[in-house]
Amino acid sequence: MPGNFWEGYKGMAMIKKVGIVGCGTMGTGITQVVLEAGYKAVVSEIDSSLLDKGIMAVKKGLEQSVEKGTLSNIAKEERLRGLSGTLSLEDLKDCDLIIDAIFEEIQAKKELFIKLDQICQRETIFASNTSSLSITEMAASTSRPDRVIGLHFFNPVQVMPLVEVIKTITTYDEILQMAFDFVKSLNKVSILAKDNPGFIVNFLLTPYLMDAMRAVANGVASIHDIDAGMKLGCGHPMGPLMLADFIGLDVLYKATNSMFEVYRDSRYAPPPLLVQMVRMGYIGKKVGKGFYDWSDPKNPIPLDLKL
Ligand code: 3HC
Repeated sequence: MPGNFWEGYKGMAMIKKVGIVGCGTMGTGITQVVLEAGYKAVVSEIDSSLLDKGIMAVKKGLEQSVEKGTLSNIAKEERLRGLSGTLSLEDLKDCDLIIDAIFEEIQAKKELFIKLDQICQRETIFASNTSSLSITEMAASTSRPDRVIGLHFFNPVQVMPLVEVIKTITTYDEILQMAFDFVKSLNKVSILAKDNPGFIVNFLLTPYLMDAMRAVANGVASIHDIDAGMKLGCGHPMGPLMLADFIGLDVLYKATNSMFEVYRDSRYAPPPLLVQMVRMGYIGKKVGKGFYDWSDPKNPIPLDLKL
């Protein structure tokens, strides 16, 4: 494995341009915070309507920062000049760091990393925002497993201060240091996790969310009361069922399945109610229906599930 490049590593000066692949909810949030921290950003998508939607969301997010007074108008204009969108991965070739934020499918992520590996310079660092898939598997599909890491952001990226940094058994110490420095430069806090499915947060959070769904299905209490219980009794910002809607039941379904495949622990087995809701297309806030009816996003109403 080539070893000398990072010997002269002196910190953040090496990262100037960041590529973000996929501009859904997480990709747009990541792009916004990367831009706000002063990096150039190239966002890639698979079709122009998704790309336009993502770029619009980033612009809207920057606008909101101006309205909140956390970004000046001049800085916003400057940040926007540092943003470009593309439908071709080739345009990411001169990025120093690329963050994958595509859908949670290991095969798709491996194919993406194989393509990027051919396109990008040897020094480029690859990161994945996956919440539960194996960074090791992605790293092993490239010729640079020493510089592939996990950078797991939380939703909404603009608000949540945490980023999990995930290392594999081949990650260079210098790359890890780079990741910590990068997260700090985004004004966020990093924690270090090994490459076990769910890392730290989802390892703990997912069984809790699955239990809340089992509680609904078993008639323990109503959707409203389960959420109120954890919100008012434990000080959580939102109850588990609202949080599940917020994350997306489709996302959770994939995440819990991939954790179950590895751990074979029934706590991660998707409850039948989750499976039914995903099949029905009730996947949460983004489609207007999940455990809540989100017709009025400011006033979600518990859905009348026929259990
Ligand atoms: N984008 C940007 N800013 C947002 C936002 C968004 N999507 N949603 C909320 N905000 C901002 C608001 O502008 C507001 O900012 P301000 O305080 O500067 O005015 C602030 O967040 C608070 O928002 P609101 O007053 O509208 O609403 P709440 O006080 O109810 O907070 C919340 C909303 C921050 C989403 C809060 O309910 C919360 O923290 N919920 C829990 C979120 C959570 O647990 N996320 C982790 C999910 S797990 C995950 O992401 C991992 C993945 O792998 C599954």
